[in-house]
Amino acid sequence: MSTPIRAIAAGNWKMNGTVASTAEIEALVAGLGSEDPGCDVMICPPATLINIFAQIALGSRVEIGAQDCHANETGAHTGDLSAEMLAEAGATTIIVGHSERRQDHFENNETVRAKAEAAWRAGLKAIICCGESDEQRKAGEALEVVASQVVASLPEGATPENTTIAYEPIWAIGTGKTPTAADVAEMHANIRTTLNKIIGDTANEMRILYGGSVKPANADELMSVDNVNGALVGGASLKAEDFLGIIAAYKD
Ligand code: 13P
Repeated sequence: MSTPIRAIAAGNWKMNGTVASTAEIEALVAGLGSEDPGCDVMICPPATLINIFAQIALGSRVEIGAQDCHANETGAHTGDLSAEMLAEAGATTIIVGHSERRQDHFENNETVRAKAEAAWRAGLKAIICCGESDEQRKAGEALEVVASQVVASLPEGATPENTTIAYEPIWAIGTGKTPTAADVAEMHANIRTTLNKIIGDTANEMRILYGGSVKPANADELMSVDNVNGALVGGASLKAEDFLGIIAAYKD
């Protein structure tokens, strides 16, 4: 390993939050204050809240991201949003290929790759998600499945600056279940090796996040695992107090 990677705690609010939730962003901004929390901090609210959250977070330690985008810049795609639109609203990053998108919207690796490229086209960063199902883990296929998702979802031109990988085992999302620290270490090493094969040594600087039932109570353990460079947090990012409890894992 070369230079230490600065971690990020990223909150994915999924389809939760209304204008009333600005109170949580205000509390997060206030809770972080001006002192370095030891990691970067991001919230990805529903698209309807990106603009208002970005205004509240302006000049603070909190970045605002988006949860998905269409691959195209404009066009006849009812209900979709382009990366350029999300950038204009104030997003700095777009999560692509979340397992809920892969499942609910039948997104495949090719779609995910195109969406990551769209994020870059708009000058944004991409967080590319991967993760195995319970069945795949039980069948002993987890390492292979995730490696093949990474290979097929990562566009050419990926760098540590424009791309982050998020490993989220599907069975750990919203269930309260988490893999053991040893399983997380094994998977993250597997992802790092896979990235090394694709983009060489530069992959040693790429962030690999863990996501799936991260809570203040387990953040210390999960975030200290080798090759875990931050968290992608669902439920526990909705309340500033909980999210600050996770970020606290990075305070020295
Ligand atoms: P939970 O933290 O609610 O398990 O969700 C994880 C996730 O899917 C973040 O993208």
